[in-house]
Amino acid sequence: MRWHVLWLLLLFTLMISAGHAQRHFITAFLENYRPNVQADLQLYLVSHDQPASVTVTMPLSSYNETVLLDRNSSTRLYFGSEFMLFGQQIESKVVTVNSDANISVFAFNIKQETTDALACFSDKELGTEYYIFTTGAGSANQFAVANGREEEVQVAITMSGSLAFNGVEYNSKQTFDFTLGSLQVIQFQSSSDLTGTRVSSSTPVAVFSGNQCFTGKIGACDFVVEQLVPVNNWGTNFVIFPLITDESSQIIDIISSRPNTLVDVVNNGGTTQYHLDQGSHISLDVTSGLLVNASEPIMISYLFQGGRNSLVNSFDPFLTTVPPNSFFRRYYKFVTHESYYNYILIVSQSSSPTDFYLDHQPLSQYTWSSQSFEGFYGWKVELGKMNMEHEISHSSLAFGLYVYGIEIEISYGYSLGQESTFQDPPLPDGTEEPEALSQLTCLSHGAKYQLPLSLVTNANISINDVHLHDPKCEAHQEGDWAVISVPYDKCGSRILIEDGKTFYVNTVYGTVPGTPIHRIEVPLKCEMVANETLSMHFNPTVTDVVALGHHNISLKFYHSEDFMDPVTTFPYEVGMHGRLYVEFKVDSDDEGLQILTENCKSSPSLEPGDMTYSIIKHGCFQDSTLHTYPAGDQREEHFGFQIFKFEDFPEVYLFCDVIICHDDSVPNRCTQGCIGERQKRDLSGSNSQFQAARLSQGPIVFKNGREVQRPAYQEFSQSPAHLSLVGILCAVALLAGVGLLLQRIYYRRKNLGYALLPDRGE
Ligand SMILES: *[C@@H]1O[C@H](CO)[C@@H](O)[C@H](O)[C@H]1NC(C)=O
Ligand SMILES: *[C@@H]1O[C@H](CO)[C@@H](O)[C@H](O)[C@H]1NC(C)=O
Ligand SMILES: *[C@@H]1O[C@H](CO)[C@@H](O)[C@H](O)[C@H]1NC(C)=O
Ligand SMILES: *[C@@H]1O[C@H](CO)[C@@H](O)[C@H](O)[C@H]1NC(C)=O
Ligand SMILES: *[C@@H]1O[C@H](CO)[C@@H](O)[C@H](O)[C@H]1NC(C)=O
Ligand SMILES: *[C@@H]1O[C@H](CO)[C@@H](O)[C@H](O)[C@H]1NC(C)=O
Ligand SMILES: *[C@@H]1O[C@H](CO)[C@@H](O)[C@H](O)[C@H]1NC(C)=O
Repeated sequence: MRWHVLWLLLLFTLMISAGHAQRHFITAFLENYRPNVQADLQLYLVSHDQPASVTVTMPLSSYNETVLLDRNSSTRLYFGSEFMLFGQQIESKVVTVNSDANISVFAFNIKQETTDALACFSDKELGTEYYIFTTGAGSANQFAVANGREEEVQVAITMSGSLAFNGVEYNSKQTFDFTLGSLQVIQFQSSSDLTGTRVSSSTPVAVFSGNQCFTGKIGACDFVVEQLVPVNNWGTNFVIFPLITDESSQIIDIISSRPNTLVDVVNNGGTTQYHLDQGSHISLDVTSGLLVNASEPIMISYLFQGGRNSLVNSFDPFLTTVPPNSFFRRYYKFVTHESYYNYILIVSQSSSPTDFYLDHQPLSQYTWSSQSFEGFYGWKVELGKMNMEHEISHSSLAFGLYVYGIEIEISYGYSLGQESTFQDPPLPDGTEEPEALSQLTCLSHGAKYQLPLSLVTNANISINDVHLHDPKCEAHQEGDWAVISVPYDKCGSRILIEDGKTFYVNTVYGTVPGTPIHRIEVPLKCEMVANETLSMHFNPTVTDVVALGHHNISLKFYHSEDFMDPVTTFPYEVGMHGRLYVEFKVDSDDEGLQILTENCKSSPSLEPGDMTYSIIKHGCFQDSTLHTYPAGDQREEHFGFQIFKFEDFPEVYLFCDVIICHDDSVPNRCTQGCIGERQKRDLSGSNSQFQAARLSQGPIVFKNGREVQRPAYQEFSQSPAHLSLVGILCAVALLAGVGLLLQRIYYRRKNLGYALLPDRGE
């Protein structure tokens, strides 16, 4: 028990203030054992698709270095033992990393024969409530709490196990508190297992935990560490595969923050249910794939206990966190280290390695092996000994990722998923499709679907407006996700037999309250047995330029809000949950002309009947997601709004009345902008003769794209949800003016044809 005296640690904290693409991290290096051995603390900085200027500081050493990174590159900083936390005291040893662009940060805490690593969270992923996991009884359990730039943060610790602080011994259920100043960190150490200890704070802090001398299976003393995930980012659904299947041993530890948490663990032997209370936990061996789902959010730690395989005779333990399925992403950056045989394990519903791209190569070109369980796959890839940054992506499915390395008497491991840095990654094909991050999981007794919360907020609806076919079955929030459970026998789920296949189907809607307008619509399908890919198609037709009198008015779509990149190929496909960017423009050299969009209505058919939805009425915005964007001059107008569709209708048509005015006629309708009913009458009274151009656009077609996974050993497979595509048929609108009127106001009435004919107006 020599390590009683050897209180070393390593803790790493990163934090950043808020900002656009800025990233702020705090970290700290917890104490690693072996007091007489110099520490080799390493910090990897990895840039994304922008160059970054990154400043790293540590107050106690007055360390302050700025490094410049090219895009897609990485660098490594090295620190000595003076950066390591020591004993149980408050120290000004928080390492800050501030970047002017998105970066990822990884910390390696290395001493001879005892190492581990972690992926640092940015300030956006920190929280104010944590539960500690310290690996189990032993003499070197430890955790640390780090404050960023807050002047003062109050921290309360509610014990599980016991520890002495300021000369007082605190035992289970007792609480004590203290204050941390700016860039201060405190480390706690105890010979008793501190797992289940609760940390709460007045502002977000970073929390790290582990053991400086975990013995594991092989019996040697080994440092393990992980940055903990705050309770608000815990999840309810997990898939776990053993990271190494040879002669090694691994356990997971499941902890709950709420009373009466039911946890179902499904493995080859069937389902076992556990009952957890606030702060209580269970440990389970991992020998094959398993699924965990819980009635309340839980945290799962993965303790790799070391072992041996064909490459390494005896490797050490490491500690990491199991990312919940709801945090899976389609794209990650990570680093591997030259001192180890490096591996990654991908957890995914993708049944083919060719759909993953690792460093721009299909995964099938690497040495890989796979495991599968209940429709999930664990793809293990051997990367050998290399020090570099990597990038991995899947074309459509989100996945979980573990990175780890082994060598004689050492190892490291970390998992990815909880870092918001990866939220809007540059996708390899350049498409931005938020639904692709969404995920449907079909299990034997029901399904679960999750979509990014940002989709819900972009649609300006609340999470309670997201529901299944049966509106009573609503979504709930888990971290940054809206999650909805889909029982097969309730909530409007039904059976569909198609081409001899059996599906359970339901639909997720996000409905504007009190209207038939769906801002979100995602058809869900769970197939009972499936091994083929279904495809989608549609056949839209197109036009866009129209003429009014001797002026041409154009109606154009753009790819983004900068209105730089017009849509030139049709059909234009946009995801149901994206925005539509529209430009109205009068094409003329006459700078005195001005355009005003008077009315824009949408309807599910070419004949606007009772069911219309007004987007602009008398120049006033009716839709809460509608915004204008800057235009070149008064001859053009730029709008964008969130795509929507009508309940039960596959198409949406837009009908817009556009008015052209001339400066010579000021005041005129264009200078008025938004007007109410009364003013409108006044105006038309005084200018009874005017014409407007009616531009119509449509249909916007919603398609059910379907992609079906091929399960190997499970009953159902899933159809991912990035399905709703919109084919926009720009039809139309052609206006021919018949007489120019005095005021050069052209006003036109209904023209509902698909290919519009000149209309005489009235
Ligand atoms: C950086 O990441 C944030 C959040 O993930 C995102 O909003 C931002 O656009 C990203 N910036 C760049 C330059 O990629
Ligand atoms: C950087 O990464 C982005 C995203 O994967 C990729 O599109 C781009 O080609 C990469 N650039 C370089 C120089 O490798
Ligand atoms: C680090 O150096 C930069 C540039 O010299 C300075 O602006 C910054 O305030 C310094 N930061 C700290 C924490 O000393
Ligand atoms: C696990 O998921 C299934 C299917 O969604 C559900 O029936 C079961 O109640 C869940 N278990 C817990 C403990 O929530
Ligand atoms: C689907 O599975 C059946 C039986 O397992 C097999 O005969 C068939 O070739 C598979 N089809 C495809 C497209 O993989
Ligand atoms: C209007 O559009 C037509 C067809 O594209 C074109 O031939 C004509 O020159 C345009 N007129 C003006 C004034 O730009
Ligand atoms: C969301 O909708 C509400 C009610 O329609 C409206 O008051 C609010 O301004 C909208 N928010 C945004 C960001 O458009």
